[in-house]
Amino acid sequence: MIIQPKTRGFICTTAHPEGCAANVQSQIDYVKSCPPMANPPKKVLVIGASTGYGLASRIVPAFAGGASTIGVFFEKPGTDRKSGSAGWYNSVAFEEAAADAGLYAKSFNGDAFSEEMKTTVIEAIKADLGQVDSIVYSLASPRRTDPTDGETYRSVLKPIGQSYTQKNLNTDTGVVDSITIEPCTEEEIAHTVKVMGGEDWELWIAALKEAGVLADGFTTVAYSYIGPDLTYPIYTNGTIGKAKEHLEESTARLNSEFGEGTAYVSVNKALVTQASSAIPVVPLYISLLYKVMKEAGLHEGTIEQIQRLFADHLSSEGGPQLDDKGRIRIDDWEMRDNIQSAVDGAWENVTTENLSEVSDFSGYKNEFLRLFGFGLEGVDYEAETNPERPLPSE
Ligand code: NAI
Repeated sequence: MIIQPKTRGFICTTAHPEGCAANVQSQIDYVKSCPPMANPPKKVLVIGASTGYGLASRIVPAFAGGASTIGVFFEKPGTDRKSGSAGWYNSVAFEEAAADAGLYAKSFNGDAFSEEMKTTVIEAIKADLGQVDSIVYSLASPRRTDPTDGETYRSVLKPIGQSYTQKNLNTDTGVVDSITIEPCTEEEIAHTVKVMGGEDWELWIAALKEAGVLADGFTTVAYSYIGPDLTYPIYTNGTIGKAKEHLEESTARLNSEFGEGTAYVSVNKALVTQASSAIPVVPLYISLLYKVMKEAGLHEGTIEQIQRLFADHLSSEGGPQLDDKGRIRIDDWEMRDNIQSAVDGAWENVTTENLSEVSDFSGYKNEFLRLFGFGLEGVDYEAETNPERPLPSE
């Protein structure tokens, strides 16, 4: 079958197996080109391992440190007539590359929030690795069924207390207009915290501890975002920000149980991923940010970010450098004063007419398509390809 992109708003319903493989390979090549790390982890569990920051968090320890990895994700395999999801093809490609390099890699496709998934993963750790020394929690999900009460909670991206009006980019049409988002209810805050807060992260660590599969001195990290004032109402001070606050509270609880230096929140840079493209206002901010950061020679993608997270913090000689709230800040380049003031200036001026001049919207669109394996060099998109690709470890 010939697979072409089919996009609808912030969703692309098709993905290209060879394109996804090329994307994964370019991330592996980048990691291999970097200097060796001081103390890379050896047995790593990545929850949310198939796309975005989680995929990079699987590639870095594997290809920088030779780590064995277990990946958990929620993806759709292809059939003989229908394309699978990008995360599925990424994971197939990752496992194939890991096997070629002689690295252990096993993947589990299903609901990370469920007790069954935790049990299955623990059995695999016991059987194959004995213990894990690093756990990366990189889930981004719109819903979670809580296994304790069976209730399904949905997260929302809304401001708290008052409505929020801001410039917004329609990424389908390239039109810059304005959006008003009405404030959330108390219940929506609670539900967003349930889905995107740290509760499930803590449940994973508790289950791993109970099973005796946490190595002495293990570390665990989850990802957060802060960003500029202009997105505060929809992000940091909005419903998702409350969930990220909860994540930081989870870090404190995990550190008091297992010792300081066990759990970290890493604040990462705004990047085009399947999760971030669904947030109102953020795609316009990212398009402006990319232009400014590329011109300043400071642009990074997920793989460069996570390479830096491990090399300079988690796996460095001196351990992580933390901010005054105890967080790792790999958003430091994004948040530099000169970068933010340049983005602010562009934000004031940007219109539909000057979008391609003042922003990197074409870079945004290219990167969005690359997430699904489209637009990669060396891939023949006119050629027939087989959408049915088994995961080697299944
Ligand atoms: P993404 O959409 O690329 O990845 C989400 C991952 O979660 C995928 O592997 C997906 O399969 C998995 N997943 C979703 N629901 C699942 C479920 N029920 N069971 C198992 N796996 C499931 O997202 P992205 O952007 O990489 O986000 C990861 C984390 O990084 C999130 O906590 C996000 O808030 C954070 N972050 C993202 C930033 C960005 O700009 N993209 C910036 C800073 C932090």
